[in-house]
Amino acid sequence: MTDHQHSTAADRSGADATAEDTTAEITTASVTTAEVTTASAPSRTGEGDGDTPVVVVDDVHHSFGSGPQAVHALRGVSFEVRRGELTALRGRSGSGKTTLLNLVGGLDTPTAGRITLDGTDLASLDEPGLLALRRDRIGFVFQSFGLIPVLTAAENVGVPMRLRRMPAKEREERARTLLALVGLADHAEQRPGELSGGQQQRVAVARALANEPDLIIADEPTGQLDSETGRAIMELLRAVVRSESVTILVATHDPNLIELADRVVELRDGRIVGTDTSAAGA
Ligand SMILES: Nc1ncnc2c1ncn2[C@@H]1O[C@H](COP(=O)(O)OP(=O)(O)OP(=O)(O)O)[C@@H](O)[C@H]1O
Ligand SMILES: [Mg+2]
Repeated sequence: MTDHQHSTAADRSGADATAEDTTAEITTASVTTAEVTTASAPSRTGEGDGDTPVVVVDDVHHSFGSGPQAVHALRGVSFEVRRGELTALRGRSGSGKTTLLNLVGGLDTPTAGRITLDGTDLASLDEPGLLALRRDRIGFVFQSFGLIPVLTAAENVGVPMRLRRMPAKEREERARTLLALVGLADHAEQRPGELSGGQQQRVAVARALANEPDLIIADEPTGQLDSETGRAIMELLRAVVRSESVTILVATHDPNLIELADRVVELRDGRIVGTDTSAAGA
């Protein structure tokens, strides 16, 4: 009896340290992945500081055009994306989701307000600085996959690493590890046209992870997939949040995806009208 209680307590005390190890295969693969690139990975400034949000959006406004024709896509948006969480951005078509993701990803500059990524004010970066930020710190996943048709799955995953001039052998090895992580070990040599939509999006997720980003930005990643395939992609993203300790900001209409989010930020007409915290990540 005492023994039993003791062993239970021991299991519990070990639970925190090994929590990530329970994520089955994905974790095993990710450990290898981490080892492969430790040498060339950039230091992540905010890492280890568990409470620093990865993204801080502070009173951001964004308009397209000017004068009476101006479209005010964002009208004073403030929120934070916490490290290691999956945050879903929800809202009707035209509510400003893509606009907001583009600003957070440094693809566009807000008309007013401030966005910081890991403590770096995006406004302080020039164009090469933004380019490096997008290449090294952010992974993008789009509704339409965005793969290069003439490249194989492995080569597509290798593109961001190529941009960082990672040596070919290391790059190929890591591309294969990442494809295994997303369940496509046997499809590395196929081109996007020879893969299903769900498989293509898995390749895109692997590519987004290539440079060990701090943040993955996904715009309607399940929008072109049937609900079952979309759910699988969503669960993959969810698993990746845990095993790769990345942070994800995803715009979506998909109820499956919203269900799995740690936090849901609701946009309406360019304003945040609600923030929900769910139990999915607990
Ligand atoms: N390049 C642009 N030029 C002018 N207006 C734009 C531009 N991009 C977006 N808008 C406008 O900004 C508003 C927000 O658009 P946005 O694409 O962010 O919405 P969304 O929430 O992503 O919608 P959806 O769910 O359809 O993708 C819309 O009124 C849209 O017409
Ligand atoms: Mg959109």
